[in-house]
This record gives sequence, C-alpha cells and structure tokens, in this order.
Amino acid sequence: MAQLDAALAKIDSNLDAALARLFALVAIPSISTDPAFAGEVDRTAEWLAADLRSLGFEAAVRPTTGHPMVVAKAGRAGAPHLLFYGHYDVQPPDPLELWESPPFEPRLVETPEGKQILGRGVSDDKGQLMTFIEACRAFQESGGLPCSVTILLEGEEETGSPSLPGFLAEHRAELKAELALACDTGMWDRRTPAISVMLRGLVLEEVVVRGAARDLHSGMFGGAAINPIHVLALIIADLHDENGRVAVPGFYEDVTELPEEIAEQWRKLPFNGRHFLEEVGLSVPAGETGRSVLEMIWSRPTCDVNGIIGGYTGKGSKTVLPAEARAKFSFRLVGAQDPEKIAASFRSFVKARLPADCEAEFVSHGASRAQQLPVASAALSKARKALREEWGKDAVLAGCGGSIPIVGAFKRDLGMDTLMVGFALDDDRIHSPNEKYELSSFHKGMRSWARILAALAAERT
Ligand code: BES
Ligand code: MN
Ligand code: MN
Repeated sequence: MAQLDAALAKIDSNLDAALARLFALVAIPSISTDPAFAGEVDRTAEWLAADLRSLGFEAAVRPTTGHPMVVAKAGRAGAPHLLFYGHYDVQPPDPLELWESPPFEPRLVETPEGKQILGRGVSDDKGQLMTFIEACRAFQESGGLPCSVTILLEGEEETGSPSLPGFLAEHRAELKAELALACDTGMWDRRTPAISVMLRGLVLEEVVVRGAARDLHSGMFGGAAINPIHVLALIIADLHDENGRVAVPGFYEDVTELPEEIAEQWRKLPFNGRHFLEEVGLSVPAGETGRSVLEMIWSRPTCDVNGIIGGYTGKGSKTVLPAEARAKFSFRLVGAQDPEKIAASFRSFVKARLPADCEAEFVSHGASRAQQLPVASAALSKARKALREEWGKDAVLAGCGGSIPIVGAFKRDLGMDTLMVGFALDDDRIHSPNEKYELSSFHKGMRSWARILAALAAERT
C-alpha cells in the first residue's frame, strides 16, 4: 500500500511531464490506413519503444505483415502476468477544414468543464494508452511494478487489425498472460468510471453489383437496361423490416439476451435516450421497436450501410446508366453470433435478390466476434474496488457499441479474457474533427491504472 501511495504521488507531481510526452506522441501523424503515412506509423512505434525503455522496460519494435507492433516487458517475475493492449494508430483527420487547430499540433484548452487536450488520437487511443504507461512509470519510480507486465501496442487497429492473428500465433507463448487489460473504451460520464464487460463484434462486407458490360447512355438504353444502382437500393431497402429488425435469415439465431445482473443495472442507469440523440441533432431512436437506446447501442446487433458508390457523382449532370454500383456494409454483432455465418447469410440474401443479367462480387474487409467478460471473475471485483477508491463511486458495468478486434483474438487464440477500462467520454469526438481528451481523464486514468495494478497484484487471480 505504501508503494501505491508513492506511485499515486508520483503521478500527481509528474503530470506536466506526462502531458509533454503525450503531446510528443500525438504530434506524430500515425494514420494507419493511408500508405503515405507508413513512415510516420513506424516513427510512432519507435517513439513508444524508446519511451518504454526510458522507464525500464525491455522494449522492441516488431515487424508484422503490416504496421509494426511494440512489445515491452517489465516487472516482477513470479507475480501475476498481465498483458496491456493499446493502439497507437489513428484515424485520418479529414475533413481538415473543420478542425479549429491543426490535428497533429496538440494543445491544452480551458473550458467551463475543465481542461481538455485537443488533437487527433488523444482519446483514441494515444492518451488512453499513455494512462497505463504513465502508471507503470510511477511504479518504476517507486520501487518497481507490483506484477509482471507485458505491453502490446498495435499500429493497425483502425484498419481492422489485419496482421494480428498471424502475430499472435507466432508469439503466443510470450504474450499469453493471466489477463489482458485494454484502455480503449469510455467512462459512463465525467465522474463515473466504467468497465466495459461487453464489446460488439463486427463484419465488414463490400458488395459490387454489375449489370451491362459498360456505362450506357440513359436515353438510348434507359428503360431497357437494368440499373445496378436500383438493384442495390432495393437490396438495401430489404435489409430491415418495419420494426427495425435485420431481415438477413438467421441473423438473430445466436443473439443472447443480457445477463440479468447487467440488465438490472442498466435499467437503473440515469440515461435519457432522447438527450443522447439530441446531442447529435436527432430526436427519435431509429433501431428495433421495443428496445431502449442503451440496448440498441450496447447489446443489440445492427446492420448499417457505410457508403454507396456508383454512377456519375461529379458536378453538373450526366445522363448515364451505370454498369456497376457498390456499397459498404457493417454488421455489429453480439452474443454468440458467428461472423462467418452472418457474412454467408448476407451474401445469399444479396444473391437471392439479383435480377437477370446482374452479378454480385463480395469483398470481406474483416470480421470479429462479440466479447463478454465473465461478470463473476475475481479480476473484475478487484478492478471495481480499485475504481471505487479512485472515483468514490461504483463503476458502471457497461456495454461497448464499438469493436476492438484484438479482444476476440485474445480470447480465441490465447484463451485470455480482457478487462476493458477506459476514460474517454462520449463527447470526445473520436474519429471526428476536434477530437479531445479531458485532462481529468488523463490524470485520473493514470491513478486508476495504478490502483488496478496494485489490486491485481495483491493476490493471484
Ligand atoms: N476505440 C474504438 C472502439 C470504441 C468505439 C470504443 C466507441 C468505445 C466507444 C476503436 O478504435 C474503433 O474505432 N474500432 C473500430 C473497429 C474497426 C475500425 C475495425 C470500430 O468500432 O468501428
Ligand atoms: Mn480505439
Ligand atoms: Mn478508433
């Protein structure tokens, strides 16, 4: 306990230095999806490895089939082994003109609610991963880590982690730990921490519908020739029924209802679906009839069209009958829904609706299963107690509507559960212009991890 107190005091007195390190990290534009930034992604990995070495970790930048991983180790051998995961890649900052200051020139601003750090990636996920690294630093400066810690930092999360399964398979032995920790999720609100015990899975599918052999004059062929955009639009319209349910056959087969303990907690949460929607300029929930907004975003599966491309989309007009149309789809999965089964059923659904002369091509952009942390686990109780000590309130056992592919891979390939604790807020604008992270999230996030590490080290789980 004396050691924890010393570490907490270090965190408080070193806050300015920690902030300076975060600024240096955010200043490197590690945009994983754009090949033009591959060098910057590498530079970020090198920066992190060097930073981890500065606090006594043995750290290496490891190549993968894509962007590199940073793997670092420190701590007491024989003590519980924990694997921390974070991602150092970021989403593109576009549209640039909507940023109030350049996305890769982080700065601190004062607001009526407190200080905020601005910059692409501050909340997703650089500020968050640094809360853990800074907690480790504080322990290292107070006599050493209370457990054995491996840190795995990925540079491809925002592109669906394509190199991950291969990397895990190759390094299974050294990465396997008693428990994985991740800091890539949010709090319930600015004063209430959350442990995300459910994470939705994801299936990303692109469909190309092809008709005529080439684009045609819509006066010469219109009426006689099939239009792939119409075909695609009809398929998209068929995907949901009038109650907002997804019409793909078998879609709900492996959807499990919420564990009662969680359902009861959610019913008691002060959450107003209307306010949640009003924040983004909406008023009426658009999902399944009879489900609360919280269920819609945390525990129900979805199907969304993320983009449609086809025909003439330039300035002015063009009387063209396009030869092809494409759309990008994402399905959020819950419970035991099987990504392969869902993708196969979706493809049959599309094929069954293709008229004569049309063909469909399918491209998969990745998939991951939904995850659920066993609510009765000892690690969860310890983390809840640690968070209560820091925040003076119970942590909400939350769902997470987003997806983090590695969490599924940890479970499937390494048999490891992941404890997901994050300090982002719903209004952090992740993936959007003017992304921010509250200074209080950063500071109390570090303190929370210090307490969680101490709690997990106390007895073996
Ligand atoms: N950190 C997010 C996941 C997240 C989203 C957590 C919202 C909490 C609330 C993560 O970086 C992310 O954006 N995931 C993508 C995965 C995709 C790119 C494979 C997602 O959920 O869309
Ligand atoms: Mn993230
Ligand atoms: Mn993200």
